[in-house]
Amino acid sequence: MITVSSAKEMKNIIQDLKKQDKTIGFVPTMGYLHEGHLSLVDQSVRQCDITVMSIFVNPLQFGPGEDFERYPRDPKRDTLLAEKAGVDMLFYPDVKELYPTEPSVKVKAVDRTEVLCGASRPGHFDGVVTVLSILFNIVDPDKSFFGQKDAQQVAVVEGLTKSLHFPTEIIPVETVREEDGLAKSSRNVYLNEVERKEAPAIYQALNASSDIYKRNGRNAAIEHFRQALITVSGEIDYIEILTYPELKVPSESDTRLIIAAAVKFERARLIDNIIFTTEEES
Ligand code: PAJ
Repeated sequence: MITVSSAKEMKNIIQDLKKQDKTIGFVPTMGYLHEGHLSLVDQSVRQCDITVMSIFVNPLQFGPGEDFERYPRDPKRDTLLAEKAGVDMLFYPDVKELYPTEPSVKVKAVDRTEVLCGASRPGHFDGVVTVLSILFNIVDPDKSFFGQKDAQQVAVVEGLTKSLHFPTEIIPVETVREEDGLAKSSRNVYLNEVERKEAPAIYQALNASSDIYKRNGRNAAIEHFRQALITVSGEIDYIEILTYPELKVPSESDTRLIIAAAVKFERARLIDNIIFTTEEES
């Protein structure tokens, strides 16, 4: 594996690989890698000749008072894990490399952002689509791999590549979970012992609520989720059921839905979701 911190060098290497007709798979991350990130690498290795991972904690996608400064970082461990997982090229730029000056152009996500994390974190998805536009231009990937754990991000990024004609295919990858169901996340390290025991209740409640939705509708499902988390110390930021990937309020005829929640613990805000269908199984 080679590690590159210069955008120019990265572009040159990619150009050479393209001349050799190599397909490029891309896994953008903010590091502090876990098995969720590595499952994206695994898919890329299976589907593409060359796998590029980026590690960049993107200041633009953090709001004031959010955890940009204290976002967990461990370059040495990440480098070892990336190499072991099969990454061929690790792009590890610093902030000055991607934003040498205050950007004179920023990308704004105008669809699928009024709800869920878009509503709770104003400007977050603008930061995500801006950095991804820069990274897509540098890495020029054939396929880009994103986790369904951040299902709204997948939906917004699909909008980005479609609207701005980025020639990369977005490949969603299933959420990787701990044995007790908690979705793996770099932010799980912020949970204290009690919160770590409580956190799997989020996924359990999402599962139960998606079943209740099918039988008894939205209000009953949301109410179940709230009740199920009543003994948990974290506070529900949102719990919502929407169409997926459009993220609109569902009508009777909509069958592909997402139930998504964010729960704020003392030092970590956790998100999780389940995408489900309301069609009867035959
Ligand atoms: P980050 O939170 O580091 O996540 C990088 C990728 O890993 C995302 O596509 C995310 O959905 C995926 N991922 C995280 N946890 C996962 C899990 N438990 N199972 C499967 N996939 C998981 O998402 C970002 O970084 C940033 O917003 C980024 C896209 C890099 C732009 O800055």
